[in-house]
Amino acid sequence: MRPAATLLLILSFAFATAGMAADNDAAASAQTYTTIGDTTALDADQPTVLITGANRGIGLEFVRQLSERGWNIIATARKPAKAEELQAIAKDYPQLIVEELDVVDHARIDQLAEKYADTPIDILLSNAGITPRYKSAFAKVEGVDWDMARSSYEVNAMGPLKLAQSFLQHVAASQQKKIVVVSSKAGSFELSPKMPMMYSYRASKAALNMFMYALSFETVRQNVIVTLLSPGQVNTTPGFKMKGSIEPDESVTKMLAVIDGLTAENNGQFLDYEDGRVLGW
Ligand SMILES: NC(=O)c1ccc[n+]([C@@H]2O[C@H](COP(=O)([O-])OP(=O)(O)OC[C@H]3O[C@@H](n4cnc5c(N)ncnc54)[C@H](OP(=O)(O)O)[C@@H]3O)[C@@H](O)[C@H]2O)c1
Repeated sequence: MRPAATLLLILSFAFATAGMAADNDAAASAQTYTTIGDTTALDADQPTVLITGANRGIGLEFVRQLSERGWNIIATARKPAKAEELQAIAKDYPQLIVEELDVVDHARIDQLAEKYADTPIDILLSNAGITPRYKSAFAKVEGVDWDMARSSYEVNAMGPLKLAQSFLQHVAASQQKKIVVVSSKAGSFELSPKMPMMYSYRASKAALNMFMYALSFETVRQNVIVTLLSPGQVNTTPGFKMKGSIEPDESVTKMLAVIDGLTAENNGQFLDYEDGRVLGW
């Protein structure tokens, strides 16, 4: 093909894909999302944390404990209207803003980043995840559910990286400059059970760990610390207690102590909730 024809082909492809992107943006801006709370109630003298998956489990406990500290909290949930426990906290605590977010919705993440462009985020706390509670999670290879495998990668690995991409400048502009991501020992080659199970969950957390490890070589240039945490084995299934597990309040109290103590040395590390010791990949 002649150079001019090649250039024409590249240009027409570029225009076509730009048109597609514009269509996607238009679709995102046409959609309306729920917000509960008033951002003018945020206190500029307090640290600000953004927590994903905040309507239940570990995320909700982070909201409880950080509201007791008087911090500004942007808590995201897929369905704020159904997040009754979050709503109950927000009723008495105006520094809690609930924002609708499904972490696979990248246009919405960008929209939120734009909305909070002037709000420094001290801690970007990626907690939302697809946990291995679905039927096929404990199946052997013949039972791997490929839709769950794809979703787990999109939610557990891509979601936190997309959030970091969109909110890195908000974190860099803050006092504490921390990106904290809740991972799992299940994603560690060294620490995960030596058994054929949780294929999709384990692989998604291993991918998450590598995404954040790679990111740490960029965050270091902005004095931002990116750290992965194992929360321990935590009872978050209502009505079910796993033997040897801890309650969300213990996990979160200990994780917050680790988060409070993070230093530049912890950039790119995977730490345990209990005492902040470095865990193997
Ligand atoms: N519990 C443990 O023992 C344990 C151990 C190791 C690691 N972890 C990690 O800790 C984190 C929290 O675990 P958990 O036990 O509290 O889990 P959980 O009780 O299952 O709660 C998961 C949270 O993530 C949200 N979520 C799921 N998919 C989402 C999506 N596409 N977009 C936005 N939010 C989404 C859920 O929202 P909905 O209510 O809308 O579904 C919920 O708020 C997870 O990353 C998990 O992998 C937990």
